[in-house]
Amino acid sequence: MAREKNSFACQSCGASSGQWAGRCNACGEWNTIVEEVSKNSGIAGGPSKKQAKGLTLELESLDTEVADVPRLLTDIAEFDRVTGGGLVPGSAILVGGEPGIGKSTLLLQVAAVLANKGHRALYFSGEEATAQIRLRAKRLKVTDAPVGLAAETNVANILSTLEADDPPAMVIIDSIQTVWSDSLDAAPGTVSQVRACSQHLVRYAKRSGAVLLIVGHVTKDGQIAGPKVVEHMVDTVLYFEGDSGHQFRILRAVKNRFGATDEIGVFEMKNEGLAEVANPSEMFLGDRNDDSPGAAVFAGIEGSRPVLVEIQALVAASSLATPRRAVVGCDSNRLAMIIAVLSARCGLRFGAHDVYLNVAGGLRITEPAADVAIAAALISALSGIALPIDRVFFGEISLSGAVRNVGHMGARLKEARKLGFKSATMPMPVDGETPDKKMLVENLPHLSALTANILGSEGAKTQDSDDKETKNS
Ligand code: TYD
Ligand code: MG
Repeated sequence: MAREKNSFACQSCGASSGQWAGRCNACGEWNTIVEEVSKNSGIAGGPSKKQAKGLTLELESLDTEVADVPRLLTDIAEFDRVTGGGLVPGSAILVGGEPGIGKSTLLLQVAAVLANKGHRALYFSGEEATAQIRLRAKRLKVTDAPVGLAAETNVANILSTLEADDPPAMVIIDSIQTVWSDSLDAAPGTVSQVRACSQHLVRYAKRSGAVLLIVGHVTKDGQIAGPKVVEHMVDTVLYFEGDSGHQFRILRAVKNRFGATDEIGVFEMKNEGLAEVANPSEMFLGDRNDDSPGAAVFAGIEGSRPVLVEIQALVAASSLATPRRAVVGCDSNRLAMIIAVLSARCGLRFGAHDVYLNVAGGLRITEPAADVAIAAALISALSGIALPIDRVFFGEISLSGAVRNVGHMGARLKEARKLGFKSATMPMPVDGETPDKKMLVENLPHLSALTANILGSEGAKTQDSDDKETKNS
């Protein structure tokens, strides 16, 4: 009789090994390896000993006619934008996010819209009882929508329910960490359960043409638990993020086989559910402080859309041997680089100061075009000189201090003008792109020009007194 073969899987990175160890060899995490028994040679078990002879496949050419299947539009414009123009039938989408951010709310709203449009939408919840979901539906005022509800965690039951009837237009699984398959002995939420259940469900979606939406929880460090395994299997990965202090929620596409990946959708969590925010710039600049030093408005691009956001810097004398550098909303390496360039190329000293950087409104900036705005905020905070209130900043900084060109300059300027800004500090324009004629434009060849412009004649004084302070202390 064949012995049952046990395998050990790391719950952090998904690596499997033949024996238990305290530390995973692949990712170096401690105490993450869990024994997983497979009852039959399912997904967790290796290939069965006796290999069946494979079939000969018929090959197709690239120019085979593809029937153009219309995408499912949800009429929630922000959601449709992030999915790349609607849901593609037969695709699988993973929606990740921290607990309580609003994943279930968003998906119930999407399901309700589609159901009201006459599509069959099913919602399987492993976390909440149907009564709880109905309560949420009442709050969202969508109780009339004919969404099919079930509280179920066994993937076999879910699949049988799906197979028993015509395929639905949309299936929601909330969440993948609660679903389990009895072909595996591992607990729900472990890597092998998450992987096996996702595989079954994705296969069903491809076969039937239903859109599969899977909710995935993220761990403390922001990864979807049962990590990359699910991300590889699905067509689209959306992250729902936001900041608990704000009502704003940002849905961001991090992988999309059917659209652009840098799109964001902006929502506001209200008492009766998520509302779309059609003009995010207005929202991010909404509570702007007038003329305090250290604030610079960055004209950014998120996906296909310009977004204006305020970058705030605070520079304070430090009592620490290694001064603090704290960043919210952008990459800390980027801040370190800009501080280094400012001190090496423009003679500004941050060595005895703590530096705090914050992107207002809970947005996370990934564009290098924010460099000039960050630098302007830092110079302003260090010198105590406020920046002009009607000015936007953008441009990428190279290590030499030169200001590099960025894309979409026209779109950035247009958005800024629309919101009442009068001037822009930006890189030298490239040929072909005509920047906005109605904006007052200050072209920066080098970061030292920005420093000189902000500090002006006062700059020399501030630097001198700074020098004295440092010498005296
Ligand atoms: P939920 O969708 O349950 O989050 P997730 O599924 O990501 O864990 O959202 C829960 C939060 O949203 C909760 O803190 C209450 C809030 N909320 C509102 O503010 N308004 C609403 O209409 C709803 C349904 C929830
Ligand atoms: Mg939920």
